Amino acid sequence: MLGDNVSSQQMLEYVRKDYDSIAQLYYKDFFHNSPFFTKSELLNFLNKLPKGGKILDAGCGPASDLYVCMYDKGYHPIGIDFSESMLNLAKDEFPTGEFYKCDMTQRLPFNDNYFDGIIASLSLIHIPKELVPQTLYYFRRVLKPQGKLLLVLLKGNKDIIMDEPYGNGMKIFYSYFTANTISLYLKAAGFEVTSIEERGVSNEVGEIDNILTVEASNIKELANPSNSDLTK
Ligand SMILES: C[S@@+](CC[C@H](N)C(=O)[O-])C[C@H]1O[C@@H](n2cnc3c(N)ncnc32)[C@H](O)[C@@H]1O
Repeated sequence: MLGDNVSSQQMLEYVRKDYDSIAQLYYKDFFHNSPFFTKSELLNFLNKLPKGGKILDAGCGPASDLYVCMYDKGYHPIGIDFSESMLNLAKDEFPTGEFYKCDMTQRLPFNDNYFDGIIASLSLIHIPKELVPQTLYYFRRVLKPQGKLLLVLLKGNKDIIMDEPYGNGMKIFYSYFTANTISLYLKAAGFEVTSIEERGVSNEVGEIDNILTVEASNIKELANPSNSDLTK
């Protein structure tokens, strides 16, 4: 629990409702050329994955032009998000894309060992710390052994509920990570951290956010992989 007796589920609800309300603004500002996760970072990550591989975009938002880049390079991206408005924008932009509405803190609707790679760009930043272990475990469950995970995070050492920066009167929850904290979470979930890079980026209200781009490999095999869920 954070201050003010706000439960983790309430924090997720703040985030979901907020993104439902700011989806168009986010789309306008970040659909093209997001400074937080660049095309060269995406290409660098894709180069480590097998051609044609399936990539989960967890918290895909409106999906952005990086999504089309994954198709163009011959990969198979699948987006999930729990904001209906964000997903509707993604579906409008990429009618042939594969998108599902789900909460990434819950068991994901895909078979075990399904994806070659997972990208969570600026989405784990909205997950309360007590839900991070299960979220990373659910990522690992659907990621193949030796599959790669890329996280784009806000660097820091706090969890905060704050007024939405777009000024729509709503609240949003942010979780910040240090390199050490995220490394500990990843290790506990069965990942090996392979790189952590840091840089400063100007955000939507002109402040500098310190961004951590973290890559990790799934180094554990599941004991009893199962075939259930959505996918064939
Ligand atoms: C800052 S946006 C990032 C969008 C996109 N990944 C990008 O890099 O531009 C955060 C997205 O994560 C989604 N999100 C946050 N928490 C989530 C959760 N628990 N499950 C699914 N989606 C979530 C939000 O709805 C929002 O679309």
